Order: sequence, then structure tokens, then C-alpha cells
Amino acid sequence: MQRLYRKRIVLGVGGGIAAYKSAELVRRLRDHGAEVRVVMTQGGREFITPLTLQALSGHPVHLDLLDPAAEAAMGHIELARWADLVLIAPATADLMARLAQGVADDLLTTLVLATNAPVALAPAMNQAMWADPATQANREQLLARGIRLFGPGSGSQACGDIGMGRMLEAEELARAAADCFETGLLTGKHLLITAGPTQENIDPVRYITNHSSGKMGFALAEAAAEAGARVTLVTGPVFLPTPDRVQRIDVVSARDMLAACEAAMPCDILIAAAAVADYRPEVVAPHKLKKDPSTGDGLLLQMVRNPDILATLAGRADRPFCVGFAAETENLLEYAARKLRDKNLDLIVANDVANPSIGFNSEDNAVSVIDRQQHETRFGQASKGHIARALVAFIAERYKES
Ligand code: PMT
Repeated sequence: MQRLYRKRIVLGVGGGIAAYKSAELVRRLRDHGAEVRVVMTQGGREFITPLTLQALSGHPVHLDLLDPAAEAAMGHIELARWADLVLIAPATADLMARLAQGVADDLLTTLVLATNAPVALAPAMNQAMWADPATQANREQLLARGIRLFGPGSGSQACGDIGMGRMLEAEELARAAADCFETGLLTGKHLLITAGPTQENIDPVRYITNHSSGKMGFALAEAAAEAGARVTLVTGPVFLPTPDRVQRIDVVSARDMLAACEAAMPCDILIAAAAVADYRPEVVAPHKLKKDPSTGDGLLLQMVRNPDILATLAGRADRPFCVGFAAETENLLEYAARKLRDKNLDLIVANDVANPSIGFNSEDNAVSVIDRQQHETRFGQASKGHIARALVAFIAERYKES
């Protein structure tokens, strides 16, 4: 189940007898490649020890909202941003009621309010409690707010009753969690995505490049594949594994990247997340450049413009829906809007790279998308995986309207 590979899951454990299954769930999620952080309610701790879940998840369990030591290590807002999915299993009747009311009086309920990630509950309770109109009203309210419910299942219960209210088994929950990442929004579409830096050779041993790690472009490729698209990822030199179901083409220079993109055309949507070198040395020295006493301490390199890949593809007769990125250190929105116009784009993603916690080579990002009408849509700080899924959903919607 590749869809869980490298996904960050916050597993909330509520106070029900089904909490014993949460231990197995942590194992299953990790077996499928997910990273798991566990948050327990006070009630959850009565049924299973934090130590068990710490050993299985490989991370300290998060217990209290007002624990300065835990907050210093990874605060609740950080945890909320870190998550690609918050899965609460078991979700008791009380927890469902508190979530339906938007109560935030412990770490888990606060985290649910603070996260932008999808939230899913695996209800587990006595069959009469599940059937109670109060629980059913809470269920409706949670569903209406976009919170997903996995189960419950039906069968014999720990209390001796038979009926609805059993928590699903660990493997069923892991599958349902994986399905959260499969949107089908771009089924049948071909997406061409550029990622990473380019390298422009000076001589056989030296080159000019930039700080792009490829993380943003690769996260977009993964999200697009999960949305059902056929994805071609043209990437400069990076050290990242290829996302599942993505066709990867490795290139070095801007001119290589353009050639690979042209060969991959036609496509329905182009997302240019690569940090392409605008200039390259006019001449690549055939041998390693030696220090030249006649030039003193200086070295002059004559540079020439590289082709603009995005503008070139946006200018074609079979032009795709074009999404650019603008990495800026000042006047972010103004410069991004200018690039949208100059390169004839449909959307541009403005990326403030002056902030080291987002942008180049960081785990997180925070961006604004600007459209042709100059409307700005903000995506607040979250993991690049999370931002990528939100961007892909946004782009799919705008593409369908175009
Ligand atoms: O790779 P990461 O470490 O995860 O970092 C992500 C990122 C910061 C690199 C990414 O989010 C980003 O902002 N990419 C664009 C970087 C950039 O330098 O943009 P630009 O302002 O130079 O170019 C504007 C757009 O034109 C970009 O879509 C770029 O891909 C494209 N371009 C630029 C020059 C060129 N010769 N050809 C192009 O296609």
C-alpha cells in the first residue's frame, strides 16, 4: 500500500477497550511506510500504556497540552502542521461529542481544531451508545464538517452485546487511511511537473546551481499521482526516491530540462516547481580551469541566458494549463504577479524563500496562489506533502473551470 509511504499520521487514542487494537494499528501503519506519532487522551491511558505505543511508534507519546517539556520538543501546533492525517482510533462516544462541539480541553481535541490535515475517526462503543440519537446527531455533524468516519463495524462486543459499534480491525483502518490520499481528482489527465535545481557546468569539475532539494516538486508529483493523474516528473539532480506511479526523467542543465519537457508533451497541466538557472556560462571549459596569475584574484565568467522552459511551453499551440512557481526574497506578490503575466500562466505559486523554515530545502512550505484576476489564495505553513495535496486539489478545480 504505497499510498501510506512516508505519510505522517497522528494517531489519537481515546479511552475505550478497543485501544488495545491501536497498538496493532501503529504497527500496520508503519509496515506500510507511514510515520506515526501517537497522542493519547487521559482515558486512553487507562486502557493501554504510553510506553507500549512509544515502543511501537518509535517516538515519545504526546499526552498533555500543558506539558512544557513535550511542547518544547514538538508543540501541539507543530504536531498539527506535521500531520498529513489525524486518525482517532478508538473514538469514543464522548470524544465524538466533544469534537462535534469543537471543545478543545485536551491535547487531542485541540490538535483536531488546529490541523489543516484531514481528520478521520474510528468509532468504538457499545451498540446502544452508537444507536443513541445524541451520538447519531454528533455523527451527522462531524460528517457535515468533512470529518471522515471509518466504521464502526458490527458484531460481538467486549461488553457481551451484539451490534454496531465495534472498531474496525487494524488492517481495515490502515486501508481506509490510505484511501484518504487517493482523490481521483485528476483521473485520465497527464501532468508534467518540473522539480529540483539545474546545474550549469563551468568546466568538467565545477558547476553553478542553487539550493532546491526537489522536495516540493516531488511532493506535487506524488499528490498528482494520488489524484489519479499520469505524471511525468522532470527533475534536476536531487537525492530523493521516485514517488510511486510517477515516470521520472533525470536531467542536469536547463537546456536538458527543456528538451525532456518538450519530449514529454502534450500534457494537460504543467506545474513548474523547478528552480531553473536563468544563466549558464557561455563556454564550458574543456579542462579544469587553472588559477590564472594574469587575472589576479578575480575570475570573469561570461554568462548567457538559458531558455525559459515554462514560458516556452506556455507559448505552444498545444499549450497546457500552466502553473508556475515564484521563489522570491522580497516583494513576493508583486514579483509573482508580474511573472504570471510575463510568462502567460494560469496560476502562479508565490514562495517566500527569505524565510528559512519554508521554501528551499525545508520540510515545510507556506505559499500564496495568484490567478489571472489577481485573486490570492493562501496556504498556511504545513509539510510540503500537505501543501502539495492542497495545491493539486486547487489546481484540479481551476483546471476544470478553465
Ligand atoms: O526544491 P525545494 O527545496 O523543495 O524548494 C522548492 C522551491 C522553492 C524551489 C519551489 O517551491 C519554487 O519556488 N520553485 C521556483 C523557483 C524559482 O526560482 O522560480 P523563478 O522565480 O526563478 O522562476 C519562475 C518560474 O519559471 C518557475 O516556475 C520556474 O520553474 C520557471 N522557470 C524559470 C527559469 C527558466 N529558465 N525556466 C523556467 O521554467
